[in-house]
Amino acid sequence: MSPALPPALPPARTPGAYSVALVCLGNICRSPMADVVLAQRVDDAGLAARVTVASSGTGGWHVGQPMDLRAASSLLAEGYDPSPHRARQFDAGWLERHDLVLAMDSQNLADIGGRSERVRLYRDFDPVPVGDDGPDREVPDPYYGGDAGFEEVLAMVERTSVALVAALQRDPALAPGPR
Ligand code: 4NP
Repeated sequence: MSPALPPALPPARTPGAYSVALVCLGNICRSPMADVVLAQRVDDAGLAARVTVASSGTGGWHVGQPMDLRAASSLLAEGYDPSPHRARQFDAGWLERHDLVLAMDSQNLADIGGRSERVRLYRDFDPVPVGDDGPDREVPDPYYGGDAGFEEVLAMVERTSVALVAALQRDPALAPGPR
C-alpha cells in the first residue's frame, strides 16, 4: 500500500513563523517525547528560528514535573535531551497561540474540543500507511505499561517528526530568507 498524502498544514497565523503544539494526558510521556524529537528535527533542518514546538497535557497532576523516567531514558538512548522538559497543562489559550495542535489520542482530541482546521490527531501525519496498524491512529499511552511501549512511541514520533518537518519545509511561507 502506498503512503497516503499527509494533510496540508494549516496556514501560519504570522507569516514566516510556525508554532506546533503536542497534547497528551499527563504531559510526561507521549507529548514530551514528540516535542523533544520534533524540536530536534526542526533544529536539524535549520528551521528553529521559524518553527517553535511546545507540549501540554489535558490533566494537571504532573504540572512542573520532569518527564517520566522511562520516556527520558528512551530519548537519551537515542541521543535526545529530555532534561529541559517540565509538564504544563493545556488550556484554551493553547488553541489561540498555536498554528497546529496535535492530540496524541482520541480522548485527548475530544478533551481539547475536537477536530478543526488547526486541531488534529498527531498520527494524521504518521507516514506509515493507514491499515498497517489498525484503524485508530492514536499514539498508545505507555504510562501503565513496560519499556516496549516507550520504544513504540519513540518509533512513531521519530517517523512522524520527519514527515512534519518535510511538510514544514514545503511551506513557502517558511522558506529560508530574511525575516
Ligand atoms: P502521557 O501519559 O499522557 O503520555 O503523559 C500519562 C501520564 C500520566 C498519567 C496518565 C498518562 N497519569 O494518570 O498520571
